[in-house]
Amino acid sequence: MSLLQRIFVLNVAVFVLAGLVLALTPATVSAEIARLEAVVLLAVLAAVSAVDFVLLRRALAPLRRLSGLMEEVEPLHPGRRLSTEESPAEIRGLTAAFNRMLARLEEERRSSVERSLTAQEAERLRVARELHDGIGQSLTALMLQIDRVAKDAPPPLRAELASAREATRALMGEVRDVAIRLRPEALDDLGLHDALAALCDRLGEQSGVAVGLTVAPGLPELSPQAELVIFRVAQEALTNTLRHAGAETVELTLALGDDDALTLLARDDGRGVGDSVPGAGIQGMHERALLLGGHCALSTPAAGGTEVRLTLPRAAVTAA
Ligand SMILES: Nc1ncnc2c1ncn2[C@@H]1O[C@H](COP(=O)(O)OP(=O)(O)O)[C@@H](O)[C@H]1O
Ligand SMILES: [Mg+2]
Repeated sequence: MSLLQRIFVLNVAVFVLAGLVLALTPATVSAEIARLEAVVLLAVLAAVSAVDFVLLRRALAPLRRLSGLMEEVEPLHPGRRLSTEESPAEIRGLTAAFNRMLARLEEERRSSVERSLTAQEAERLRVARELHDGIGQSLTALMLQIDRVAKDAPPPLRAELASAREATRALMGEVRDVAIRLRPEALDDLGLHDALAALCDRLGEQSGVAVGLTVAPGLPELSPQAELVIFRVAQEALTNTLRHAGAETVELTLALGDDDALTLLARDDGRGVGDSVPGAGIQGMHERALLLGGHCALSTPAAGGTEVRLTLPRAAVTAA
């Protein structure tokens, strides 16, 4: 029955009830209403209104259920749809429209995340190239020039030139590090496994934290986009561990999960995320996961520390 029909039938039933009360009981209403009659009339009206209220409340219950379900929809867990069965026609229509709106919003969100991440990666690539080809080359030229000058310089100047050369070399190293952080060359040239290994080595060396890496054998060949998502999530998770966790070890694992989903785990033995507010880094991990229809979750396992779990459906990550 539609909501309109339900409410109409309910109201008719209540009117009939009120009519029956008037017709079948000794109650009367004189042209000039008596005090007792007025009291009886008010009592009957109050009773009828109360019955009406209770019945209407029941009839409108599906609407309340629907808004409760709408509240539960989580932007970070897309794909959830409300069920439409066993509801009046209007509610089914409303639910179906809401589901279609969810689908449109999710698609729009996915594509806008994709646009912004693609733009961000392109910009990083551009800056990394500029650092490498522009500043990097200039520093190399500067070093050669210092070498040349040092050859003919009087001995007292040589020591100073040597330290200028050393400073230039250190600067080149820093520029290279920034360029690698911006865009891991290894990812383009050597693939995900080596890029992750290089990342773990570099971060381990810099921080003194033991960074372990396990990549399960026999993983499917991944698309460049999937490799980039996994690399960036690993990079953020490890950086967070080094920055916030006060951990001694962190273990990175890439493997196929039980449900054939590709799973990246980063587990540290630090202080745990607790209820700290997610910032741009954690938000970025979620968005990159959503880009491939996957999911990223941070938790504190029973043993303590922090676990970042990235799950990507296999179909979305394999190379075409
Ligand atoms: N591995 C971790 N151990 C402890 N706390 C963490 C860890 N990862 C993240 N956090 C907490 O979550 C917060 C948000 O992280 P994030 O979104 O990456 O922002 P940011 O790193 O810029 O602070 C951090 O400030 C930190 O308090
Ligand atoms: Mg961070």
